[in-house]
Amino acid sequence: MSSDYIHLNLFTMNSVEHVTTGNWRTPGDQSDRYTDADYWQEVARTAERGGFDGVFFADVRGIYDVYGGDRETAIENAIQTPSNDPAYLVPAMASVTDNLGFAVTKSTSYNHPYQLARELSTLDHLTDGRVAFNIVTSYLESAARNLGLGERMDHDDRYDRADEFMDVCYALWEDSWDDDAVVRDRESGVYTDPEKVRAIDFEGEFFDVPGPHGAEPSTQRTPVLYQAGSSDRGREFAADNAEAVFVSQLTEEGVRDYVEDMRDRAAAKGRDPDDLLFFPGIAPVVGETEEIARQKYETYAENVDTEATLALLSGFIDLDFSELDPDQKVEHIETDAIQGAINAFTKNDPDRDWTVEEVAEFAGLGSTSPVVVGSPEQVADELQHWYEDVGVDGFNIKEIVRQGTLRDFVDMVVPELRERGLVREGYEGETLRENLFEEEGRTRLADDHPARN
Ligand SMILES: Cc1cc2nc3c(=O)[nH]c(=O)nc-3n(C[C@H](O)[C@H](O)[C@H](O)COP(=O)(O)O)c2cc1C
Repeated sequence: MSSDYIHLNLFTMNSVEHVTTGNWRTPGDQSDRYTDADYWQEVARTAERGGFDGVFFADVRGIYDVYGGDRETAIENAIQTPSNDPAYLVPAMASVTDNLGFAVTKSTSYNHPYQLARELSTLDHLTDGRVAFNIVTSYLESAARNLGLGERMDHDDRYDRADEFMDVCYALWEDSWDDDAVVRDRESGVYTDPEKVRAIDFEGEFFDVPGPHGAEPSTQRTPVLYQAGSSDRGREFAADNAEAVFVSQLTEEGVRDYVEDMRDRAAAKGRDPDDLLFFPGIAPVVGETEEIARQKYETYAENVDTEATLALLSGFIDLDFSELDPDQKVEHIETDAIQGAINAFTKNDPDRDWTVEEVAEFAGLGSTSPVVVGSPEQVADELQHWYEDVGVDGFNIKEIVRQGTLRDFVDMVVPELRERGLVREGYEGETLRENLFEEEGRTRLADDHPARN
């Protein structure tokens, strides 16, 4: 790890179910409030109270319609549908917090870089530098159809487009406007010095963008960059672009190997490997005592819907699990969707033969991340172990029930971690980048980031 303490994100989605199934039925669950600004403002206040760096919003376009070849199971079980756009939540949540950051997932396959660069600059202005871009290439075929592309681009071609997409964004964010371009000189009548605003004249395989950027530089210019790709091509892309990566490995060994591999790749690209932060997901189930936590876990596990879980995984992997027997071993396939999702149960866990039934049971609570059940001390012990011995920088906290998972974590685990000096008491700076890298004044991308060169 390269951080002095554990960093935390809430991993959520502007939807009912995200990476857990069936638990919208758990008494007290509030996920049906996802359409209310009030709900998200409560979430934001709680996360900031717990010293979280940010709220991390996943997002998809399209429907999970791979399972059984239709959308019925996903729709019936609210599997990431219905869902709303996360970006619009950011100003509402920022208005009730001072330091909390907001990572917004946006697809490089289904957006145009000129348009998206402007949207993210706008959010970074409105929040005074508290925005991150989770760069995804997307995986659902249904999204490609909805957006008029006919079919999903091939896995590696999506990353080629993403490379170029980021080159356009970097040129707009970093090179197009000088820091002192806006002069606001009432006497001379010059608002912006035209000499200090440049076209980018980008011409590529996928995009031709003359520029200049329409927005003046925001506090961070380039928002903090997150990435979650775990295939070989995805790792190369992350090593080029990401400041923080979302780790999706099930075993300690897998996480260690991933961290080492990613740091090597970043160094080979001339970047300081410590400028890459690692966030595995965990789904915590906490109770005042271990027994209470176990009871909660039993309730949550009983509420999981196996078919819904398989519908979720079928979408992640683009493999129709309805065609497999429950006791059949899950074999590795080279998927065009999320390679990391199938790798988690095959390549990355070679000593175990996962059956379809076991995968469904495991993934129903938090999908491809471990569930940690216990008293505040026990959960804190586990996180401390992953931070100190495995070398991660923090965690994306996956929700099982809303807002219960977050509240339990903030009210019980965070005080325990704070007592151990492992979670911040206050924030270092005002921007997300300063807080993530624990360095006041570090509002901009590192000098050795490819976007700066
Ligand atoms: C933990 C995790 C979270 C992800 N979240 C999203 C998401 O919210 N939206 C999305 O379109 N893709 C998401 N992805 C997909 C990736 O960003 C990437 O596009 C996809 O995994 C294909 O890359 P890979 O084969 O290199 O893993 C996620 C992937 C992982 C592993």
